[in-house]
Amino acid sequence: MQATAEIADRISTISVSSTMKVSADAERLRREGADVVDFGAGEPDFPTPVNIKEAGIKAIGANFTKYTNAGGTQELREAICERHKIDFGTNYSFSECMVTVGGKHAIFNLIQALINPGDEVIIPVPYWVTYKDVVNYAGGVCVFVETDEYSNFEVSAEIIERHITPRTKLVIVNSPCNPSGAVLSKAEFRAILNVTSKRDIFLLTDECYCHFLYEDKPFSIAALPGAKETVVVAGSLSKTYAMTGWRIGFALAPAPIIGAMMKLQSHSTSNPTSISQKAALEAMRGPQDSVPQMLAEYRRRRDFVVDRLRAIEGVTILAPKGAFYAYPNVSVAFRGERVQNSLDFSSELLARQHVAVVPGEAFGTRNHVRISYATSMTELERGLDRLDKFIGSLRI
Ligand SMILES: Cc1ncc(COP(=O)(O)O)c(C=O)c1O
Repeated sequence: MQATAEIADRISTISVSSTMKVSADAERLRREGADVVDFGAGEPDFPTPVNIKEAGIKAIGANFTKYTNAGGTQELREAICERHKIDFGTNYSFSECMVTVGGKHAIFNLIQALINPGDEVIIPVPYWVTYKDVVNYAGGVCVFVETDEYSNFEVSAEIIERHITPRTKLVIVNSPCNPSGAVLSKAEFRAILNVTSKRDIFLLTDECYCHFLYEDKPFSIAALPGAKETVVVAGSLSKTYAMTGWRIGFALAPAPIIGAMMKLQSHSTSNPTSISQKAALEAMRGPQDSVPQMLAEYRRRRDFVVDRLRAIEGVTILAPKGAFYAYPNVSVAFRGERVQNSLDFSSELLARQHVAVVPGEAFGTRNHVRISYATSMTELERGLDRLDKFIGSLRI
């Protein structure tokens, strides 16, 4: 018997994360000796701040190396609530908070805890890859809501309302958005909450990039009066504190939902890593100056990338208002047999110029590629020179 025949059906509802696939392809080329410029990875190139690393080392020294409570230590859960209150003016208590193994895990736990087969989940396009697969895995139905570059990729309350049916259970909003960098205005976010809360539909706000805003001040929809009843916050320390490998995220939600998510977590990971929890505690309670420092550097890179892309004839790009991704429309280069869409574009770019980008198809659009500028200026210069050359060669 073939082993593949034994794989459970629900695994066939999901696919390998395309961003991880790009990194794997780039890594393979690198191992073969190629000089690859990697714009695929969605992670800060900065090291974790020293005070946070030291807290982790101290935790090991103090033998804080055992199981903790499934939802994280009480002190960390309290510290997360405090931090969220200081940053956004929310008012969560420890029973409405849990620590997870990265923000991705908060989203996974929530969707498995909330979505029954056939329940509909509204997801604006372009979307972060994981939402779709996690909803499918739970047997839910993804209802995609298109946005486009002409409206700055911003989803509106009105368009969300048009997609609501009696089966709608959850709406997902990610602002700033990975991949487009779009940021929802406070007024529009409030209007979306109005639409969902009056129908008792949950609103998942993925705040992964909430501190990386170039124009507006960070805010959380969960701070609005009454919002806590239907809003679930998925938070992450990965990007804010350059802690991707430590795998710490969190959820803020009504206590019964946290209870359900914790039950699931207790049977999967048991708890987030104890050592990482101590480092996270320092991130929450220690100095915060590394965050604006990183933001200033991302802004410099964003301006450089946007200018360089706009200088390539036919390429269009909205200046990202947040996060650290550029999402240019490169359809000007879809010519000839080999490059007809952004998938072809990305694989030819990697093969011919050794530059890794993520094709828009991974995020639900055909004409774009995602460029992560969480990399050094030198790499950005090298990679954009090559991209320019590649598009020029397709034009001939
Ligand atoms: C939009 C968005 N949400 C959540 C996450 C989860 O990050 P982590 O699991 O590292 O906390 C990511 C990571 O890339 C992301 O881009």
